[in-house]
Amino acid sequence: MSPAPSGASPRRRARAHAGDHPDPWRNIDGLPKPAQMVRSLEVRGSTPAQVRLRRRFLRFVPVRAGERVLEVGCGSGVVVRDLAALVGPRGEVVGIDPSRSMVEAARALARTHALRRRMRWRVASGDGRFDATLAVTVLLHVADPEAVVREMVRVTRPGGRVAVQDQDFGTVAVTHPDRASTERIMWGVATRMYEEPHSGRRLPALLRAAGLEGIRLLTDVFQDTTLEPFAKSFLERRAANAVSFGIVDTSAAQTWLDGFTELVALGDFVLTFNYYGAVGVKPHGASGKGR
Ligand SMILES: C[S@@+](CC[C@H](N)C(=O)[O-])C[C@H]1O[C@@H](n2cnc3c(N)ncnc32)[C@H](O)[C@@H]1O
Repeated sequence: MSPAPSGASPRRRARAHAGDHPDPWRNIDGLPKPAQMVRSLEVRGSTPAQVRLRRRFLRFVPVRAGERVLEVGCGSGVVVRDLAALVGPRGEVVGIDPSRSMVEAARALARTHALRRRMRWRVASGDGRFDATLAVTVLLHVADPEAVVREMVRVTRPGGRVAVQDQDFGTVAVTHPDRASTERIMWGVATRMYEEPHSGRRLPALLRAAGLEGIRLLTDVFQDTTLEPFAKSFLERRAANAVSFGIVDTSAAQTWLDGFTELVALGDFVLTFNYYGAVGVKPHGASGKGR
């Protein structure tokens, strides 16, 4: 492997360091344990603050009874299961994902669901005329978000909605006694891991550039004060990544994590970050190719 050029971005340098793309969501099937990724989506999906902000976004889109809806990058099916409840027995939800292990897991998790007959799963891209097409926490992880949005527009019917939701890792606020290390780790990892850590705040511009109209924005905040399992694993993964990127050594990473445990014991722990949801309407007469 050739060394990263000295002028390369932190993310490029990280990629050269790791020998692969540092964001594990890029190629789940290439990971040694894809089942861990399924578990982490299910843990996040069942975290009460996440349930609230996901459902608030789906109401904002909105998704209506009887509609045909596509979710791009459906993962283990957390959002599709919620969508099935919204479209009801006369509607249909299609979940697609490039990862075969994710689609298999999603299918298995939905097997006992009351609305399982309203859910379809594919390892592919969409090819129908959907009333609404969604991508939830996906664009942050892709190399070319414009291309994904263009494809979403293409498979949506004129007058239908294209809706995207993403975290924005430039908005992470967390209490810690060592502010300098916290800044170095959180921002250092985010810039090495993602093409655009500010993905969330840029969603309206992305939809506008794809030729969508009537764009609306919903900003929501994830909040945790108890270091619940989703937040704990988020911070543990940041610490592990900070070690693998050479930002801190193992002992400094552990000391940093211990700092959170102490705050929780005192009742002083706060972690928040913003989720941005944007929705636009495909104009009648649009080719679906964007501008
Ligand atoms: C963080 S998960 C989100 C899963 C689900 N939307 C949720 O919120 O629970 C990101 C998903 O995007 C998928 N993905 C990665 N690259 C993609 C691409 N280029 N197009 C569509 N999906 C992609 C991954 O396989 C993964 O399942």
